[in-house]
Amino acid sequence: MRRTLITGANKGLGFETARRLVAAGHLVYIGSRDPERGRRAAERLGARTVRLDVTDDASVAAAARAIEADGGLDVLVNNAGVEGRTEDNEVIGAADVTADMMRQVFETNVFGMVRVTHAFLPLLQRSACPVVVNLSSGLASLTRVTTPGTPTHAYPGVAYPASKAAVNMITVQYAKAFPAMRINAVEPGYTRTDLNGNTGTQTVEEGAEIIVRMAQVGPDGPTGGFFDVRGPLPW
Ligand SMILES: NC(=O)c1ccc[n+]([C@@H]2O[C@H](COP(=O)([O-])OP(=O)(O)OC[C@H]3O[C@@H](n4cnc5c(N)ncnc54)[C@H](OP(=O)(O)O)[C@@H]3O)[C@@H](O)[C@H]2O)c1
Repeated sequence: MRRTLITGANKGLGFETARRLVAAGHLVYIGSRDPERGRRAAERLGARTVRLDVTDDASVAAAARAIEADGGLDVLVNNAGVEGRTEDNEVIGAADVTADMMRQVFETNVFGMVRVTHAFLPLLQRSACPVVVNLSSGLASLTRVTTPGTPTHAYPGVAYPASKAAVNMITVQYAKAFPAMRINAVEPGYTRTDLNGNTGTQTVEEGAEIIVRMAQVGPDGPTGGFFDVRGPLPW
């Protein structure tokens, strides 16, 4: 049975991915920074839960110890993420973004991803077929962001796309360093979740499709790529 950890899986795309992977026969750990939210989500899905705040070293180390003691890990889905909008759900553009806002978004999306991946590497290296899925975004694509007339070009935010561009680079460099693992970045598409004040145009079922697919790749599957549901994306 494939043993899978999904960070930030108590709601949104992570929760839907967990639902689908449980249905596909995975033993899923719902990573949740709030134990009660994690417990409720796991109970609904027939999954397990582990307390995990991606911004906190001690919490990530404790989660890795718990999952190791429980039998190890085959699949890591680095899903926890924030966009860093204002309380009125406004995207923060270049005129207003500050170093502190950048740091907050990078703390979760970038440093959190590295913190979790680093902590779980020893477990993944003991798996017969280790897989990592990193949640990126179409907004990470420098090609799209610089192509006038696209919705991506029109997005004014700075911190979030910069953090996801970093996720893409992290993905490529880890994939080269660990050729025995399948490590890919995915773009779920603009999905209705709390991240964007539920303004997304897709359902979580649609958005989770590429995450679920990449979580299930075998040893001959792609690695070091950037995909949405239709195929490879331009960097
Ligand atoms: N929705 C979209 O249109 C879209 C598009 C492209 C990419 N993505 C990416 O997809 C991923 C999931 O986003 P979503 O749309 O499902 O958002 P969401 O509904 O807001 O869910 C985000 C999840 O991340 C968790 N989280 C946030 N900070 C955390 C931390 N420090 N430690 C652990 N968990 C943390 C949240 O936990 P709490 O409940 O405790 O806050 C929640 O479970 C993100 O990486 C996002 O960037 C989303």
